[in-house]
Amino acid sequence: MSDKTVENVLIPEQEIQAIVAKLGRDITAHYQKVGGELLVVGLLKGSFIFMADLVRVIEYPLTVDFLAASSYSNSTVSSGDVKVKLDIGESVSGKNILLVEDIVDTGLTFKKVIRMVQKRNPRSLMTCTLLSKPSRREVEVPLDFCGREIPDEFVCGYGLDYAQQYRNLRYIGVLGEI
Ligand code: IMP
Ligand code: MG
Repeated sequence: MSDKTVENVLIPEQEIQAIVAKLGRDITAHYQKVGGELLVVGLLKGSFIFMADLVRVIEYPLTVDFLAASSYSNSTVSSGDVKVKLDIGESVSGKNILLVEDIVDTGLTFKKVIRMVQKRNPRSLMTCTLLSKPSRREVEVPLDFCGREIPDEFVCGYGLDYAQQYRNLRYIGVLGEI
């Protein structure tokens, strides 16, 4: 078990659904305009719940895949040492790729993944994140679709974890000391 606890609710369940619905509308409008095959790639594990809700509000034909990259061990601080633990199974070449992240913090993880996918000649590459902590950014990353900017606080729930705990919370909460 962890030495932390969820202090308060930052984004309640209903608000998350409103954020996701808006992202779905924006993403739908974009791909309806540009056309072509769409492959939505979620970064594991944090994006798994967001992905499940997001793809169901995108009204455009798509396929789904996942990628696992990790920069943290069991800490709340990014090490900057990003490793790809599970690669995309589907071919990327010639497709519109939408990379989906749970939260962009320093930007190190997403930047590395964006670079890696870009090298595989996608037709286009766009990014979507549910949350972003702009005050923590160490490297610039293009966020085409961003659900919500949040202050520099460690959050969990709705797929996001602390030491692998709390992913099953239906809301997003702020973590504090017990
Ligand atoms: P970055 O490389 O520093 O941008 O870290 C990105 C990854 O760190 C995300 O994919 C999350 O898995 C994790 N992360 C960053 N901030 C938080 C947070 O507040 N709560 C839970 N996970 C976080
Ligand atoms: Mg993550």
